[in-house]
Amino acid sequence: ALISLRQLLDHAAEYSYGLPAFNVNNMEQIQAIMQAADEVNSPVILQASAGARSYAGEPFLRHLVLAALEMYPHIPVVMHQDHGAEPAVCIRSIQSGFSSVMMDGSLLADMKTPASYDYNVDVTRRVVEIAHAAGVSVEGELGCLGSLESGTAGKEDGVGAEGVLSHDQLLTDPEQAVDFVKKTGVDALAIAIGTSHGAYKFSRPPTGDILAIDRVKAIHARLPNTHLVMHGSSSVPQDWLEIINKYGGDMGQTYGVPVEEIVEGIKHGVRKVNIDTDLRMASTGAMRKTMHDNPKEFDPRKFFKATTKAMKDICKARFEAFGCAGKA
Ligand code: G3H
Ligand code: 13P
Ligand code: NA
Ligand code: ZN
Repeated sequence: ALISLRQLLDHAAEYSYGLPAFNVNNMEQIQAIMQAADEVNSPVILQASAGARSYAGEPFLRHLVLAALEMYPHIPVVMHQDHGAEPAVCIRSIQSGFSSVMMDGSLLADMKTPASYDYNVDVTRRVVEIAHAAGVSVEGELGCLGSLESGTAGKEDGVGAEGVLSHDQLLTDPEQAVDFVKKTGVDALAIAIGTSHGAYKFSRPPTGDILAIDRVKAIHARLPNTHLVMHGSSSVPQDWLEIINKYGGDMGQTYGVPVEEIVEGIKHGVRKVNIDTDLRMASTGAMRKTMHDNPKEFDPRKFFKATTKAMKDICKARFEAFGCAGKA
């Protein structure tokens, strides 16, 4: 059976480790994560976006997770809904059997206006009420994810935040976080500390202090019992970037969040670390290279096997770096 996010993150807090939460859409991603977890004996957080559900179809997604549980009964697994844009999305996930949901009420424009804050509190509190009655955990989000370097809101700017945001608007306010948790009862809180979604986070190699680690400390000090979540936490592996571009791809030069900075966050209360882009890049790089190296091959299993291995290696590295290896 699945375990709830609350159960797993309480354990993580007790033993001072963090967990990567990998986005999943298909069988190969789930197999890569489970194989890696099995090898290093780590608990697992699988997470699926609304896009993942429409890509795979609800029954396929549900049965892929059931298959993972059947094949690896000794590994604790959380199935989490990533970025639920409205309560209905979260309710559908609860009905589908997820053990955790994210109600992302931060997607409205300009979180500093009282109206958007009240909206976030209202939708999140409603989801908590329903989810907790079903034994399901809830992650909320407060703040606006964006790169401190570019001042843009990344993927979330599509939903209303116009252009460049100020430094302060990009970071979660610690006092507001206290109020938000008190009013909503969320189990975990995604905070804005300088990361952004997707591959294009930083245009220059990060030289330390990319993350607003002081904010993490300030929020954790005030909310020691709320598990902190970092979104946009891919490290954008430079070796896979090179392979993608060497074998026909065309990605621009870009950098992600260094693993050491994430580990610093984990020391100060970060328990869940969302990673999607890294596995996408490993998968695409491995696919391109294997196809290039084997032009006569037409059995797609050859290519998919390479992608699974590439993703698995990254999963193992994150399990080990974040301290969850050996904690299953
Ligand atoms: O933050 C979103 C995740 O990277 C999932 O992306 O909506 O394209 O599935 P997606
Ligand atoms: P990345 O794009 O950095 O992998 O972030 C994924 C994420 O935050 C999913 O919610
Ligand atoms: Na999430
Ligand atoms: Zn996210």
